[in-house]
Parts: sequence; C-alpha cells; structure tokens
Amino acid sequence: MSGKTDAQVQAQYEQFPYPERNPADEAKRLIVGSPSHLDEIRHYLHGGRLDLTRPFRALIAGGGTGDAAIMLAQQLADAGASDAQVTYLDLSTASRAIAEARAEARGLSNIRFVTGPIEQVGDLAPGPYHHIDCCGVLHHLASPEAGLRALTAQLTPDGGMGLMVYGTLGRTGVYPVQEALAQLADALPDRDRLAAARKLLDGLPESHWLKRNPFVGDHLKGDAAGLYDLLLHRRDRAYRVGELADLIASADLKITAWIEPARYAPETYLSDPPLRQAAGALSPIDRAALAERLSGAIAKHVIYATRSERDVPEADPGADGSLLVFRDMDPEAIARSLRPSGTLTADISGASYSAPLPALAPRLAALIDGHRSVAEIRDLLKASGAPMPSEANFRDQVRKLFRAFNGINRMLIRTGSDR
Ligand SMILES: C[S@@+](CC[C@H](N)C(=O)[O-])C[C@H]1O[C@@H](n2cnc3c(N)ncnc32)[C@H](O)[C@@H]1O
Repeated sequence: MSGKTDAQVQAQYEQFPYPERNPADEAKRLIVGSPSHLDEIRHYLHGGRLDLTRPFRALIAGGGTGDAAIMLAQQLADAGASDAQVTYLDLSTASRAIAEARAEARGLSNIRFVTGPIEQVGDLAPGPYHHIDCCGVLHHLASPEAGLRALTAQLTPDGGMGLMVYGTLGRTGVYPVQEALAQLADALPDRDRLAAARKLLDGLPESHWLKRNPFVGDHLKGDAAGLYDLLLHRRDRAYRVGELADLIASADLKITAWIEPARYAPETYLSDPPLRQAAGALSPIDRAALAERLSGAIAKHVIYATRSERDVPEADPGADGSLLVFRDMDPEAIARSLRPSGTLTADISGASYSAPLPALAPRLAALIDGHRSVAEIRDLLKASGAPMPSEANFRDQVRKLFRAFNGINRMLIRTGSDR
C-alpha cells in the first residue's frame, strides 16, 4: 500500500465516498442486501444455526459509506445479540465519517470504526472474526490474493465470509470506455476527468456495448461517485467464475453459495431436457461457470465462502425444528399472490425463473413468519381442520416451497437457539 495507484485509489474514495449516502435517510429505511445479511450468514455459512447468545465478531473490510456495517449491526441489535460487535475498516476517512453518522442516526453502539488498509488488518484490527464481509473491494486491490489472505488470517476456524467482486461478462462495455478515458484524460484533475467522462458518454454511439448494457446503466445517469467508480477507477478488474474460484482457492477457502442460487444454476437458462441433463452432470464450479456464460448478465458475483477444510452443515427445510424466513418479503402479501400447485416466476437479469410450487403453497406461506417452526406450522394447519397430506408429503411440500423461493434468495432457514 504505497504506490502511486494506491494513493490515487485512496484519494478517489476521499473525494467520492461510495456509495453516496445521506445519514438523514436512516430515519426512513434500512438498506439491506447481499452479502452479509444476517439471515444469509446464518443460512449459507452455518446451516441455519447461529448461536447469537455467544460472542459474535464481524469485520466489514472496505466498509465504504457503511451499507453492510449498518445493515448487520442493526440486524444483530434487532436479534438481541448483546455480545456482538461489527468492526468497520476502510482507507477513506470521508467514507468513515458518513458511516459513523449513519450509525449515530440509528443509535447503534455495536460498531467499531478503524481507518487503514485491508492489507494491514492483522495489525490495525486483528480478529479473530466469525464473519468477514468484503464487498466490492478485492477487485480494487493491488493484489486481491494478498488482501484475501490477510482477511482469511483473521477468520475463526468455523467462520465465514461474504464477498462480492465484479463479473466480467455483465460488465461488457465498461472496460473499453475506461481505457478510452485513460488515453484521453488520465492526467487531468478528478473533477475534469468526471466532466470528460460525461462528455465522452454523450458522444458515444447508441450501439456501443456500454450503452446497450442495461446491467451497468444506472451509474451512467447517476451520481458522481457511481460514475467515477464505473469509468474512472484507477484499479479495477473483473472476474469470470473460474477466476473467482481460483482466487478463493488461493486463500484456502471454498465457496458455499452463489447468490442468488438460481442465477448460477444452468437450468435457469436451459429448457431442453438433454441439455439440462448434461448440465446436471457438471461439477458445482463448472455449473456456475456455465450459468455465467448462459446468463451473460452477471455484473457482480456475490458469494459466501469458508475455510476449505470446514464442513458447513446443510439444513433440511422440511425438518420439524426448521424455521423458514421470507427474506425481506411480506408473507401475507406473498400468500395472497400464490395459487395451489402454481408456479413461482421471477426475472433474473432478463432470464425467466420459474419454479413449481406445492399444493399447500399459499397456506404454508401465510404461516411462515420467521418465528414458527415447521412442526408448529403443521400443527396450526391441522388445527384449522384443513385436509392434511401425510407427514412425509407435508415435508416434501415444505421443501418444494423452500426450493422455489431459495432459488431467488428469498427464503432462508433458521434452526436452533437464536429464534
Ligand atoms: C466500491 S467501495 C465499496 C464500499 C462498500 N463495501 C459497499 O459495498 O458499499 C470500495 C471501498 O473500499 C475501500 N478500499 C479500497 N482499497 C482499500 C484498501 N486497500 N484497504 C481498505 N479499504 C480499501 C475504499 O475506500 C472504498 O470505501
């Protein structure tokens, strides 16, 4: 962390804290997302079982203006995790000031703020941490491998990580324009580089891949921080699935989940039975790589990862003790929108997702409130006098409902003591 490019990256985030956030907005809404949503951490990294009565330490590495730190700290506070602490680490003091103001606006006292480079995490904010978030940062480091290794060294043996890096195919069109701006405006002050980017975009033909790519389009019209990040960043690389898998393996980690699961399932993009069968025979990484090729629209890879030697238990959604959670959705509204034995449909960046639903779907959905266990839901249904299937069939229906909603990362499992 001492070269010219490092200094330029640091200066960028001092001048343009990312993403643009106004602490006053905390009174109106909590921004939630992936990775590092508490329900996702519990599900994808701990098989649904996370004991928050025990100490829980999380590191948000390259925390920016605070989205993940605020989300996780608020969710931990809401869950009554009294011995939980979130450590925010970032190079940028301007970004930290915004994140601190957001925490203050919410009255959150469970975040510790540290300024400095990820590469020195072991000295500046040593762990161990049960969870490490690094979202949109590794692809800006001089050595993503060294950065990821430094983070992994601070992970507990049974901890997990939530990571996001750019996806090459979904960012089609971005890099030629970055290169053009480097040719034309590299030596200019930052304000002038931004002005140059805007002028260049005005003249860019509508046929240019950047203008035709709807998955990066928001930043073209948006704020300075977003535009700078998209087109003027001094160090930015993107990953194909295989390259990301190699990066993860280089730190002795393994991927436990790709978000959303259906985005990385080739079946989302294939309807022909023999083609689906061929895809089904591939290894998990090859399946994700195939899905990336078939989607063409994955601009960000969001994954969960753990140490390669760790076994993450797999929760059974149909088990009596499982608690199902609709992730940030209103169960009653969902229940009203479902038909018995209908189909769940969704748009995944232009691809049509459709998953079969069980006969009990609307009645199950109405009872899934994040607090009732599967056994309690079955008892309530029985008590209502509704005709009930056999116990095995009931469990299969719960699993089918789960599979459909989990494909789009909308249903997760909680099991055990932190209810
Ligand atoms: C694109 S922003 C992402 C912010 C946040 N993680 C999010 O997803 O909203 C990248 C952040 O990483 C920080 N950063 C870049 N290189 C860093 C480094 N070597 N050490 C610590 N932070 C770094 C920047 O200051 C910036 O706040």
